[in-house]
Amino acid sequence: MSFSLPDLPYAYEALQPYMSRETLEYHHDKHHLAYVNNGNNLLKGTEWEGKSLEEIVKGSFGKNAGLFNNAGQHYNHLHFWNWMKPNGGGAIPGELEKAIVSSLGSVDKMKEDFIAAGTTQFGSGWAWLAVKDGKIAVMKTPNGESPLVHGATPILGVDVWEHSYYIDYRNRRPDYLKAFVDNLVNWEYVAKLYAEAR
Ligand SMILES: [Fe+2]
Repeated sequence: MSFSLPDLPYAYEALQPYMSRETLEYHHDKHHLAYVNNGNNLLKGTEWEGKSLEEIVKGSFGKNAGLFNNAGQHYNHLHFWNWMKPNGGGAIPGELEKAIVSSLGSVDKMKEDFIAAGTTQFGSGWAWLAVKDGKIAVMKTPNGESPLVHGATPILGVDVWEHSYYIDYRNRRPDYLKAFVDNLVNWEYVAKLYAEAR
């Protein structure tokens, strides 16, 4: 398969004031598109041509850095657009909430740990909720890595590359993370991925 850039699942201004039209235009139309184009060029002639995106991400990790970085970021961003929605961050679907409380103590503790993971990821990367060994865990990864290449299944991720927040929040990464958790997360999509991961 080759990579392609999907449209955003909402209008460019739909996430304002928490994420601006300008941020989404740069982030989706330029950054994500570059991962798609570079990934397609680097995929040509490799052993992973014709494989699924997840197989390419897992297979190229540690073996083909250029391909991995672009395929990994394509995978992360495909989900990232769906991890957000207008008027997000509300109630967490019941089964998922139970699993969060059982694994991490409480919803508030999960939010606190998730924001801390994103704040302390040094340089570019992602913070995550992932299913690992049947439990929900908070993780963080550098650059284009994800829980997929660390023996876990991602169910929520937030992009902490500066291209994701610098236009709207400048250097205030913690404020961006709080706005993401409180006002942007699409918990129904997280719950769908959780159900699939179990
Ligand atoms: Fe990004």
